[in-house]
Amino acid sequence: MSMNILGIETSCDETSGAVLCDGVVRSNIISSQLCHTSFGGVVPELASREHERLMVSIVDAAVTEANIRKNELDLIAATAGPGLIGAVMVGLSFAQGLAYALDIPFMPINHIEAHIFSPFISEGAGEPVPEASFVSLTVSGGHTLLSVVETDLSYTVIGRTLDDAAGEAFDKTGKMLGLPYPAGPVIDQLSREGDPFFHQFPRALTSQSQSSKSREGNFDFSFSGLKTSVLTWLQKQTPGFIELHKADIAASIQAAIVGVLVEKTMAVARSRGVGAVSIAGGVSANSALRQAMKQACDRGGLRLFVPGSTYSTDNAAMIATLASLKLSRGTVAERRYNVAPYASFAAGAKRG
Ligand SMILES: Nc1ncnc2c1ncn2[C@@H]1O[C@H](COP(=O)(O)OP(=O)(O)OP(=O)(O)O)[C@@H](O)[C@H]1O
Ligand SMILES: [Mg+2]
Repeated sequence: MSMNILGIETSCDETSGAVLCDGVVRSNIISSQLCHTSFGGVVPELASREHERLMVSIVDAAVTEANIRKNELDLIAATAGPGLIGAVMVGLSFAQGLAYALDIPFMPINHIEAHIFSPFISEGAGEPVPEASFVSLTVSGGHTLLSVVETDLSYTVIGRTLDDAAGEAFDKTGKMLGLPYPAGPVIDQLSREGDPFFHQFPRALTSQSQSSKSREGNFDFSFSGLKTSVLTWLQKQTPGFIELHKADIAASIQAAIVGVLVEKTMAVARSRGVGAVSIAGGVSANSALRQAMKQACDRGGLRLFVPGSTYSTDNAAMIATLASLKLSRGTVAERRYNVAPYASFAAGAKRG
């Protein structure tokens, strides 16, 4: 018997609905909210209202594109946190209401765990979750996590950022350069014409930093020093110089962030003796990160799993996919669940 899962994602500023039929994505509708652009960041109240405005039409579009009817759905899964509380509540309440009306079960999904498993989203011939543990680098707007993931979907967090997330480092330094929000993709694009060696920005807690905390075995990250360094360095330059070298500066910032991410990921892979690495979350769309991680994995004889191009940033296909993976490993769906804005990684995580 076939299994049709509706996934709903509303944790931040993407309203998304997706349908998964027997583990394969049949639709993945994403509406990225543009109402925040002029504010240079996400305004929580506007995000909630926008999710509320779009929710019904996004879900209708996802079901229609999947070529099924709502009464053919077997399960509804929605992001339950972490995220903006109002935004999460819109999707979660809608999902539970619809599940109740259709008399089908509901499954709450941890947004970050969904990112972790996004490289295994299937459009027909996707990669299965590896049959041995692997290292996951999850880098998004709000999180930077290194974990060792097991075949039963549990994972141990080995390192995390002590301050800003990698996506935040891209967005905030990009803002200093006068780039629009979110600056990550713009820096990625701009860097293609720039010199990554133009200026050496700091790489905290790595072999290149002077701190004693940088020794092998420290898998945490810190990006706040990079932010300060970019700000103070830019303040010493003239507007004309910055304009002339915008691409070089962007490439140098990107090189600093990517360098840290790759070094730490490879250090965990070495120390745990795993055979594969995955990257996920919005920053995993970064072309320099993908390239550098691929080269490092090739050198180390490791497999690399990356999400398909539309599955790095927030999407509902990853919510439905994790629900499907959990079902296949015996998780029982629920009927009611409360929003968890600061949900840690309790569902599957242990601290390493
Ligand atoms: N090509 C890219 N290069 C660098 N950063 C990128 C790229 N594309 C997206 N990003 C960054 O990814 C982030 C958004 O990712 P995502 O949607 O996963 O985060 P989020 O959902 O806001 O945060 P979280 O998942 O932690 O709750 C933004 O910071 C954005 O700048
Ligand atoms: Mg996200």
